[in-house]
Amino acid sequence: MLILGIDTSCDDTSAAIVKDGKIILSNIVSSQSEIHTKYGGIVPELASRRHSENIIPVVDLALSKAGIDSHEIDAIAVCHGPGLIGSLLVGCCFVKSFAYILGKPILTVNHLEGHIYSNLIVDNPPQFPFISLIVSGGHTSLYLVKNHGEYKELGKSRDDAAGEAYDKVSKLMGLGYPGGPIIDKLAQKGNPNAFEFPRPYLSGSLDFSFSGLKTSVKNTIKKISPKGDSLSLIQKTDLSASFQASVVDVLIQKVHWALKSEGIQRVSINGGVSANAELRKRIVDYARENKFEVYLPPLYLCTDNGAMISAVGYQKYIRGERANLDFNVKAYLPL
Ligand code: KG4
Ligand code: ZN
Repeated sequence: MLILGIDTSCDDTSAAIVKDGKIILSNIVSSQSEIHTKYGGIVPELASRRHSENIIPVVDLALSKAGIDSHEIDAIAVCHGPGLIGSLLVGCCFVKSFAYILGKPILTVNHLEGHIYSNLIVDNPPQFPFISLIVSGGHTSLYLVKNHGEYKELGKSRDDAAGEAYDKVSKLMGLGYPGGPIIDKLAQKGNPNAFEFPRPYLSGSLDFSFSGLKTSVKNTIKKISPKGDSLSLIQKTDLSASFQASVVDVLIQKVHWALKSEGIQRVSINGGVSANAELRKRIVDYARENKFEVYLPPLYLCTDNGAMISAVGYQKYIRGERANLDFNVKAYLPL
């Protein structure tokens, strides 16, 4: 069973061929960072235009890398939300035409479910049920994953997602986009205790709120550089490490509470921020000390990719689900 999986929900154009929901034959991701970096964030119109230019070459490359002809695929899975409307439309309109020409079924996939499957497409995946922490640029959410396709939301971001906070803090420091990998690197050379930033635990809740933390970083930058002069390298590394320590503390605490409240010993972390070196190290140490299992995707499956969409598509295919050609994209799409 060969499924072409496509994701154009945000700023990466991605296409993958996955065999039997598990074996990744190809996984092409064309990043747009270089066009958005000067704006310090994604410009939706530019993202859609670049997706339009990229989608056919990226799908072509996914097919040729997998060594298969388009007629050999059994179905096409595509992310139809949540995400940027214009970006989603490019992927979904392409898929409608391609599936129609090839006479293949379409499977529509929720982007968040895709991220959860980045932990299930690998060797030794977590057994059901498990807790899943999705930490990306658009979402910070905790789910109880009961089985394939069975989810219960435990908590979600009330304002900025964790990745969004990384991106905005990076912009405040005059760094590029995406901010996560830049801050991740700078933080490795900084002092996490140099600045005291708040830990938004929202006691008793599994929701998240990172906008106050971002504002606190903004106020600190104003204090240390009142005239807006560029920050020194030490200031940047210390701000990065101190900001990141707060994010990671909160994420780990929330995972702990979620595991306790559901009486479960397994957690998977996924989404772009799950690539963060400090988060990966600290959650593994914490899991060892507290005797629970933690599952992290390989780095190439943390950020948006087509393989995770194919993996969900496979489950939908075997359940007999099919999308009609008149399906629509959705900016907001709860799991
Ligand atoms: O999952 P993703 O590719 O797209 C969304 O679904 O949003 O996540 C992108 C986000 C961006 O905010 C980016 O800054 C963040 O993931 N990110 C990171 C790292 N790599 C990517 N954040 C922290 N540390 C990283 N190493
Ligand atoms: Zn994503």
